[in-house]
Amino acid sequence: MGKTIALVSSVAMLLCTSVQAQPDVQPGRPWLNTSLSPEARARSALAAMTLDEKLRLIFGYSDQAFTKLAKVPDDIVPPDLKTYVVTRQNEGSAGFVPGVPRLGIPDQTQTDASMGVRNSLIPSTALPSSLATAASFDPAVSHAGGVMIGAETRATGHNTMLSGGVNLAREPRNGRNFEYTGEDPLLAGTMAGALIDGIQSNNIISTIKHYAVNDAETQRTTLDVTISAQAMRQSDLLAFEFAIERGSPGSVMCSYNLINGRWGCENDYLLNKVLKGDWGYKGFVMSDWGAVHSTASANDGLDQFTGFCCVGDKPWFGPPAMKAALQSGLISQSRLDNMVERILWALFAKGAVDHPVKVAPIDYGAHAAVSQKAAEESLVLLKNDGDLLPLRGVKSIAVIGGNADRGVPAGGGSSDVTPVGGAIIIDKWTYLPSPPLAALKKELPRAKIGFDTGADLASAAALAAGSDVAIVFLNQHNSEGFDGKLKLEGNQDALVAAVAKANPKTIVVVESGSAVFMPWASQAPAILQAFYPGIRGGDAIARILTGKVNPSGHLPITFPASLEQLAHRELPGLGMPGETPVEIVYGEGAAVGYKWHDVKGYEPLWAFGHGLSYTSFALSDLTAQPDERAIKVGFSIRNSGKRAGKGVAQVYVAPADWKKAGWEAPKRLGAFTKADLKPGKSKRVELTVDPRLLATYEAANNNWHIKAGEYHLLLGQASDDLPQAVTVTLPDAVWSASVSN
Ligand code: BGC
Repeated sequence: MGKTIALVSSVAMLLCTSVQAQPDVQPGRPWLNTSLSPEARARSALAAMTLDEKLRLIFGYSDQAFTKLAKVPDDIVPPDLKTYVVTRQNEGSAGFVPGVPRLGIPDQTQTDASMGVRNSLIPSTALPSSLATAASFDPAVSHAGGVMIGAETRATGHNTMLSGGVNLAREPRNGRNFEYTGEDPLLAGTMAGALIDGIQSNNIISTIKHYAVNDAETQRTTLDVTISAQAMRQSDLLAFEFAIERGSPGSVMCSYNLINGRWGCENDYLLNKVLKGDWGYKGFVMSDWGAVHSTASANDGLDQFTGFCCVGDKPWFGPPAMKAALQSGLISQSRLDNMVERILWALFAKGAVDHPVKVAPIDYGAHAAVSQKAAEESLVLLKNDGDLLPLRGVKSIAVIGGNADRGVPAGGGSSDVTPVGGAIIIDKWTYLPSPPLAALKKELPRAKIGFDTGADLASAAALAAGSDVAIVFLNQHNSEGFDGKLKLEGNQDALVAAVAKANPKTIVVVESGSAVFMPWASQAPAILQAFYPGIRGGDAIARILTGKVNPSGHLPITFPASLEQLAHRELPGLGMPGETPVEIVYGEGAAVGYKWHDVKGYEPLWAFGHGLSYTSFALSDLTAQPDERAIKVGFSIRNSGKRAGKGVAQVYVAPADWKKAGWEAPKRLGAFTKADLKPGKSKRVELTVDPRLLATYEAANNNWHIKAGEYHLLLGQASDDLPQAVTVTLPDAVWSASVSN
């Protein structure tokens, strides 16, 4: 007996040792020693690799390769590699990069995107659109969503999520705004950074994309964006900078467009100088699918060609092409090594080597609850005249339009999640199976709820006239690949007008990818902006309309009142054949969204940061002091109403003379917070304004520069509602924009 126990315990010890003491078990394989730094592990793995093994890591294959690679000639992709890809790639994945099994380096199995797993035969859970989540003004909501979709990425067998969209909503019609996190660099960078951090907490890689200034879809592969370095650093690049600092993504995906005459994926300024130089970025740059134009782009900072597919594709980083480039001296051995080392670093640092992914069951119920909570934190109550909402004591409701009997819309393109429960396709658009009509019936079992599709205005108006209240659902579809319209599609504007005329108690729920015009806004007493609300969107909408949930979202994007208010009325190349070379000069520079409206004195339809609650919040006792180069602000927020709720406090900074300070606009968002408060309760909040939000970028010396002077700190609950102010005096401050200085 004693002997057996001794034997069992020594076997157990042996097992423990074999798990923990990696160096003993892996003699000569220091890269598998988890106690070494990712840098050391990457270096030692690189040293052990043959040239052919290195070349595997820098050339990725798209989902199409799965069926089409076999036809690609062997002198483009060698036969052994083709066989490897086709046998190991996940069916339905977005992309695949072969690993090196001999050394324990895993394949990179890639899936889209920021709102959930798209590329899998296994269904998954869709979050609300990223723009919706940005409206929560709460990075914890974004983080929780990231943790959830990252878990599903692993459980569907992927170790790389092509996520982290953070392009600024410079163009409100951008077809991909729903994938991004709004128009303000601080808000966008904070929310995207939190998402990436949540995803990567699952020991997988997340990208951040699309680097950079890829702010419109029209002619996206040939659009040449002209913008100054200063404007970029203070707008689009600042959003990336904040998000990379907060989320530390393993990879950056470079974009399709050209920036100042150079493709995003061969842009020495953006990739080598800013990203890897000034920001000290250690991960790797992967291309967007089809965004590579030369082998020489490796010298401009591209580390991995991703998305090779079929006959006809240019294999710029394919093994034969790279070998020829090494031989001719076009690419140096040390540059190739650096490319591979960066990819290895990301695989080690983010846990993809030590925690191999495998297909596992998904707790869909728990994950849908995460998505529902995100929607409940994010939907924005734009208007609520006469406290029409929440619905109380209504006996009959007319629900009209927006396919509210079928589901809620989702955005199109590569981020269109394959949802559990099955996508509902209506007129080629994806809807998620969470119909608001059914959810309202569940929340209000005693009310008589009728439905009208809204196709016929007279019939919709008749139903509305015979009901206590009418709720009109409006859909605006947006997708990757083309830009949208601000005017609602079809008869929807007329529908609201007709219904509101028939029943003055008309509530409008807008499900859209981006901003839309609302010519009927004055006729509808209540408006809820629901964006694309995710897999439990219907429930979230119903719970907000009925008051189970108190709305707390605030707009992450300005809703312009007219086309005349846009910085660019025309989208260059619109209506022209695909891949027509076109240019756009972003003359508004860093004055994006509310900043542009402030510069021009335009009153928007709805201002950035606007959002109502069923309770009210009072802000007071604002204080501010300079703290080195930053500013520390403090204030109290109190729930001054009768219901529990979440208030969003926003601090903007406004130089006494913004032109003299060199700013792009009169004010910038400097800090924000969300506070959960019971009625009558208050909380003291301390926040810091990042020095870069006080400065201008000076390209000549690569510096940030705060100009001496007076700066007002404005506190309120929307960019157009800032009742509190204090002033600080800042001294002149100049510092390098590069981490290495
Ligand atoms: C999109 C990327 C996406 C990739 C892979 C591209 O068309 O721009 O965002 O990750 O496809 O699906």
